[in-house]
Amino acid sequence: MRSVLTALILGSAFLSAAPAFSDAVKDGHRVFMTKSCMACHGRNGAKPIATYPALAGQNAKYLLTQLKAIKSGDRTGTVDPETGHTYVQGMADIMHLLSDDDMKNVVAYLAEQDPAKPEILDPAPTEDELAAGAKLYKKLGCRSCHGKEGSKPSNKAYPFVAGLDRDYLVRAMTEIRDKVRTSGKSKMMFGTIKRADDDQIAAIATWLSQIDRNAE
Ligand code: HEC
Ligand code: HEC
Repeated sequence: MRSVLTALILGSAFLSAAPAFSDAVKDGHRVFMTKSCMACHGRNGAKPIATYPALAGQNAKYLLTQLKAIKSGDRTGTVDPETGHTYVQGMADIMHLLSDDDMKNVVAYLAEQDPAKPEILDPAPTEDELAAGAKLYKKLGCRSCHGKEGSKPSNKAYPFVAGLDRDYLVRAMTEIRDKVRTSGKSKMMFGTIKRADDDQIAAIATWLSQIDRNAE
């Protein structure tokens, strides 16, 4: 009897937990579609415009810390010569539209989406260029936090870095190296990234941008 009861209790706990999760994802989709996220980050967060980051399949925990840092103004960045404002400003401007629940739900939705397909670079990088990026990534010790090929972060609060837009990757690494971006856990990267010059950052970004996480 006891085991039947336990099974019933566990069963109902499971049943009530499952819809709650999918409700969050469903509501997150609504947030993504109605709060203008899609205009910049594209369908399912996997087709960003310009040099903006893909969000699909990113760690939910990492995404949430970034949303909070962008909303509070803690995360800043370099100025986009096209607009005269920081790249992140357009997004910071709309963040007041999101409640705490909206933020939690939209990241649950985004983490569930298939990662973006790698962008096609023109000219296409050569095998040697790609190999040089892979070698530097290994040599500088990026793997200890972002994992093999940028696709296995060692902690849920760390981002996947494979398959992001190349120019975004260059910008993110440069901003962290030059201490323009100091929010969240960026400080964890200071010791490693300070050893990379501009050419090395470009080589790593080119290689990372061409990794297809869907092929894992
Ligand atoms: C006007 C364009 C724009 C809109 C609208 C916008 N974003 Fe962004 N978002 C950006 C840009 C640009 C960045 C990268 C900023 C940088 O380079 O530092 C970014 C960064 C992010 C990041 C951090 C990604 C990372 O890898 O660190 C998250 C998460 C995010 N956006 C989610 C959203 C969500 C959710 C919405 C809708 C509520 C949204 N964005 C609306 C342009 C936009
Ligand atoms: C000690 C751990 C650690 C090491 C080593 C490390 N990173 Fe990071 N990296 C992080 C964390 C944590 C973040 C997220 C920072 C934040 O909270 O904003 C990050 C952020 C990034 C980002 C920005 C991602 C985004 O979506 O905006 C890129 C790109 C990146 N790292 C690449 C690298 C590369 C390349 C190396 C090696 C040269 C490296 N990292 C070494 C922990 C690390």
